[in-house]
Amino acid sequence: PAPGWAVEADVVVVGSGVAGLTAALRCAASGLDTVVVTKARLDDGSTRWAQGGIAAALGEGDTPEQHLDDTLVAGAGLCDEAAVRALVTEGPDAVRRLIATGALFDTDPASGEIELTREGGHHRRRIAHAGGDATGAEISRALVDAVRDQGLRTVENALVLDLLTDADGRTAGITLHVMGEGQHDGVGAVHAPTVVLATGGMGQIFSATTNPAVSTGDGVALALRAGAEVSDIEFVQFHPTVLFLGVDSEGQQPLVSEAVRGEGAHLVDAAGTRFMVGQHELAELAPRDIVAKGIMRRMQEQGAAHMFLDARHFGAEMWEQRFPTILAACRAHSFDPVTEPIPVAPAAHYASGGVRTDLHGRTTVPGLYACGEVACTGVHGANRLASNSLLEGLVFAERIAADIADRRPWPTVAPAAPPEPSLLPLIAPEQRAEIQRIMSHGAGVLRSAESLAAAAASLEAVYANAVQDREGSGKTAEPGVESWETSNLLCVARVLTAAALEREETRGCHWREDRPERDDAEWRRHLVVRIEPDRR
Ligand code: SIN
Repeated sequence: PAPGWAVEADVVVVGSGVAGLTAALRCAASGLDTVVVTKARLDDGSTRWAQGGIAAALGEGDTPEQHLDDTLVAGAGLCDEAAVRALVTEGPDAVRRLIATGALFDTDPASGEIELTREGGHHRRRIAHAGGDATGAEISRALVDAVRDQGLRTVENALVLDLLTDADGRTAGITLHVMGEGQHDGVGAVHAPTVVLATGGMGQIFSATTNPAVSTGDGVALALRAGAEVSDIEFVQFHPTVLFLGVDSEGQQPLVSEAVRGEGAHLVDAAGTRFMVGQHELAELAPRDIVAKGIMRRMQEQGAAHMFLDARHFGAEMWEQRFPTILAACRAHSFDPVTEPIPVAPAAHYASGGVRTDLHGRTTVPGLYACGEVACTGVHGANRLASNSLLEGLVFAERIAADIADRRPWPTVAPAAPPEPSLLPLIAPEQRAEIQRIMSHGAGVLRSAESLAAAAASLEAVYANAVQDREGSGKTAEPGVESWETSNLLCVARVLTAAALEREETRGCHWREDRPERDDAEWRRHLVVRIEPDRR
């Protein structure tokens, strides 16, 4: 749609999690006129829900090299080693700068040092946490406070629609839809020569996910429509231990942090047998793809809908002090981890792939950057190591801000024309649950050529019906946030399913039941997707 109003800036940051707000604060600190736009409120989004913490080699005896090794092993042969090296070497100081910005991490009362815990795939205690298990909430609080204290311009309740470009295909800003009352109501634009996408993940393409309702893949869909490259999109991470609320439970589900296993909880079946012992040297603390598979295998063998996490031995005091958020969530659903093992099953959690960037966060469209979950910087490969995501958001946001500042002055750009109406049809919000069901059944933890082909065909039918309605009766979904989100979900789901079909092997968090082995000869490579202009 043609924008009805416009504001000008040097940089527009889209998204307000750890990546977006860090990028915005650092850009503003370099004197760049920066605007943050975000789909809900500044503190909505996935960062706020992060529990376990942020990984960095901060502990005595730990080194970036050891963090690098664990990250590469989890990534199953597809990490970009230079990107991982940047992450682990710049990570400790980036965490210290986050602390200087105001984030309060848990410290050892005796030594005053940051307390560190363990999570899956880490051979050391390396995870800094805050408020026990409310790390993301504290990081979000500190960054939002800093953005407000420093008076950065922000536009809340604003769904990003499309990238604006100039006549040479350079980034010239974004269009967005602002909901609610106020001077910016309706469809408008921010004109800027640089756009930082930090829109987070896409967990809402599945029925059950740890992601909040706002995680609808908007950034990846925008990037695809803008002709940017997207990579590793088939690698969706399923968190092994999500509180099981019933087979039909949909939407955001309560996470039970890896840190609970890091502190010694056991995964058991209904008979109380620890089934991860003997499957991996780290047992319950194996990388998360291995634990998720271990749980799914046991569920299949036993015809069970879930397994259990047993941490009764922590006792009430430890539960209350170390994991207050999880304890409250369990009790809200009438489970008491102090007296009973809690039911858990895997659910969609994190997109390891996304909009492809270089080491400075630059995408393949000039002036368009990406960081955080929306990006594919190369640090996660086929499976992200636990608690590397907050760190990636921090480190690469700082790299982006430095690159934007270094490359000043940016050429003056003006949007060539109002963006072309997309060839893609708008999808009615009523289709959202159907898309999620298709994805969970066909492209979830367990995948096969058959299940993926069925999912692809069902998604095509949703798409074809919308095209037919538009071209036949001229009927289209009412333009609005929910239909744009649903269109984004469908766009991302189609691309993801196609990539998952193409990757005919099992690797990292991509588990093909019909191709159970990893195939390094054929598949130690990335799948890169770009949509041609005549198909956007
Ligand atoms: C958790 O606390 O288990 C989540 C950690 C992560 O996803 O990195």
